[in-house]
Amino acid sequence: MQSSSDVTQHPAGALVLGLESSCDDTAAAVVRHTAQGEDAVATLVLAERVARQDDAHAPYGGVVPEIAARAHAERLDDLAAEVIRAAGITFFDLDAVAATAGPGLIGGVMVGVSVGKAVALATDTPLIAVNHLEGHALSPRLSEAVAFPYLALIVSGGHSQFIIVEAVGRYRRLGSTIDDAAGEAFDKTAKLLGLPQPGGPALERLAAEGDAQAIRLPRPFLGRDGCDFSFAGLKTAALRAWEAGDGGDRLRANLAASFQAAVAEVMADRAARALTAARAIAPVDTLAVVGGVAANAAIRAALTGVAERVGARLVAPPLKWCTDNAAMIALAGAERLALGLTDPLDAPARARWPLDPAAASAAPASGGGRKGPRA
Ligand code: KG4
Ligand code: ZN
Repeated sequence: MQSSSDVTQHPAGALVLGLESSCDDTAAAVVRHTAQGEDAVATLVLAERVARQDDAHAPYGGVVPEIAARAHAERLDDLAAEVIRAAGITFFDLDAVAATAGPGLIGGVMVGVSVGKAVALATDTPLIAVNHLEGHALSPRLSEAVAFPYLALIVSGGHSQFIIVEAVGRYRRLGSTIDDAAGEAFDKTAKLLGLPQPGGPALERLAAEGDAQAIRLPRPFLGRDGCDFSFAGLKTAALRAWEAGDGGDRLRANLAASFQAAVAEVMADRAARALTAARAIAPVDTLAVVGGVAANAAIRAALTGVAERVGARLVAPPLKWCTDNAAMIALAGAERLALGLTDPLDAPARARWPLDPAAASAAPASGGGRKGPRA
């Protein structure tokens, strides 16, 4: 569905509006992108807004797709107008509009793609249909110079996968979860412990009060060949430990700490394997951890240890660009625009959309943009 086109860019750098609505965060951002080459930080975020929907979903204990889609429809056009105003420009100054076109909850994705198409049509600017995972994969380049190729570990509510980012538009998946995504496991375990959603941050806070050695939980896939993950068994073991205990506060905190330690240890092991596998393919010296779970300090610490041991650099974007945001979508759009990769106005919204089509058939598609336990 891609087409190349001659792109007229703003002399001071292309101005791109980004729109994100694939799960339960409604977001818009404007970036200015100057193509300074691969090594330079070339993207400036001029304005960004995120409207979270936690309160709307809270009564249901997880994201309800229909409620999410309605909330996106109510907020996205206003947020777009707000960031345009805050950036000190008008819609007619835009060089392109980039909208997340998948993977994700289809109702929300359709809202974002439709708003993107409306802006593109009204202002006669190109549309860029961005893969949400491409946004996450490129997000480290929002804050610092991260040269290609690098290894990205995408860990969010809907995804857990290792991708070699060879260049814009060239992604090679090395492994992914065979069942739950990491964030999904955090969210479900948090729910078990009676914590609010999204569960990851709450579980991390509770874990600080617990003893990570107190409860012996399994380390699924630890030491196994390959770069895949599995979190379902760990989640079930946490459930058993909870049901076998007294339900007291000590147990809650110890279980949170033990669960987090198990995830961090598995992730470190998998990352070490993935770095070795990546280096057999490409000269990779950076591991970038992105997605909501990258906000977890214990996981960052474990990954920093791995990177140091193998002489690689760990990069993790600031928190606001780890969780879902539109700056990363605008960045991906700007990087695609610079290559002349724009999309026609009939570009589809897609519930599933693997970043590396070659790997898509080799592993089960899991968590297509889902976040949090379903109601
Ligand atoms: O990237 P994101 O905002 O949305 C998706 O694309 O899924 O990731 C949200 C996920 C949720 O599952 C949330 O519980 C998890 O990231 N998360 C965390 C932390 N902060 C967010 N998990 C563990 N520790 C955290 N501090
Ligand atoms: Zn995401």
